[in-house]
Amino acid sequence: MSFMFSLKSIFTGGQSTTIGARCYGDDLTRMRLKYSPYYDHFERQKGAHVWLNGERLILLSSNDYLGLTFHPEVLEAGKQALEEWGSSSTGARVANGGRAYHCELEEELADFLGKEAVHVHSAGYLSCMSAVEAFAHRGDVILVDRNVHSSLWAGISNTRARVEKFGHNNPESLRKALSFEKPETPKLLLFEGIYSMEGHLAPIPEFLKVIEGHNVFTIMDDAHGMGAIGPGGRGSAHHLGCEDAVDVICGSLSKSLASVGGFVAGDRAVIEYLRTHSKQTLFSAALSPTAAACALAALRVLKKEPFHLERLHSNVVRYRTFLNELGLDTWGSETAAVPVVLGDKAKVYYFRKALMKKGVYTTMSIAPAVPPKKDLIRTSISARHSDEDLDRIFEAFTYAVKKVL
Ligand SMILES: Cc1ncc(COP(=O)(O)O)c(C=O)c1O
Repeated sequence: MSFMFSLKSIFTGGQSTTIGARCYGDDLTRMRLKYSPYYDHFERQKGAHVWLNGERLILLSSNDYLGLTFHPEVLEAGKQALEEWGSSSTGARVANGGRAYHCELEEELADFLGKEAVHVHSAGYLSCMSAVEAFAHRGDVILVDRNVHSSLWAGISNTRARVEKFGHNNPESLRKALSFEKPETPKLLLFEGIYSMEGHLAPIPEFLKVIEGHNVFTIMDDAHGMGAIGPGGRGSAHHLGCEDAVDVICGSLSKSLASVGGFVAGDRAVIEYLRTHSKQTLFSAALSPTAAACALAALRVLKKEPFHLERLHSNVVRYRTFLNELGLDTWGSETAAVPVVLGDKAKVYYFRKALMKKGVYTTMSIAPAVPPKKDLIRTSISARHSDEDLDRIFEAFTYAVKKVL
């Protein structure tokens, strides 16, 4: 379910008769924006801390899993790229040429992910959208986990393929969906390695068993897995020992890799096909020099300083154990994305407020962005959270539980 869909429903409530009226004439929308718990603007950030209305808060909702956004080598690489290549990639690669920094990042990422080739885009959203749209055509069937990210649905909606949803993380449901398909129909399986709303890891080996012999092309969005899980941070498929069986891995550079942008990884022929068939790849400006350099530097830091990943994992265990001891429902999360399910919009609102009062910043996700009765506080842990941060986070949760539940 789409996060934006839920924002729209919160901000707009109903329909207006003209588009102009919808945009300019809706006082209710403006009121909702003013008082909504979204779109806060921090005055400052340092590591895992942000300043809001002069108050320092611990950021417990970023995707900076490895905490590398302020790593000196990442910052230095960004500065150097800016000096050397300027501020922009100045256009799409097909029209304006790629740059050495694109190739360097793509080669190292491909090697890291165990794939032949990679293409990088200026947003993970474009990468994931293009990965679906480029490969699925009219007459194909897309078998998709019903909880996948908005970027994948955007890709799906631009194909003329038939779509068959299966139950979230449910191999039996996939088996059933597949059983209705003719052997000759080209099929594409679409899922995420880690679901950021739920914190769930996909049962990839079980999926692969179900599709065995059915000639299914597999695409995994590993935006939240790459860098955060698996040996050396190589992602969800490596974590489960089945990296060779996933045809395409797409994802984002804005999470563990401390930058902005996205990637699609696969066999060389597959990536060449993407480069010649995907609108998002052909007609959108290439990744900027600074973004590429920061992502590459973060990847190199991840490889040579394994303690960031180790710290992330020990923080996650400490954090999740504490939440469970407090009796909070973390929806079976196995990863650094840890939802706190409260099951009620009002509780979520007041719980988040209580956390803020004690210096912890989180986001709320409410139905229809999550299934009914699964309204939750969305939290994610970073390697950058110190022991002191974790102590303060625990105090804040203890206070919120007492105050609201
Ligand atoms: C699963 C998933 N895929 C794709 C994206 C898009 O990535 P980006 O934010 O880099 O555009 C996100 C971002 O939140 C995501 O969570």
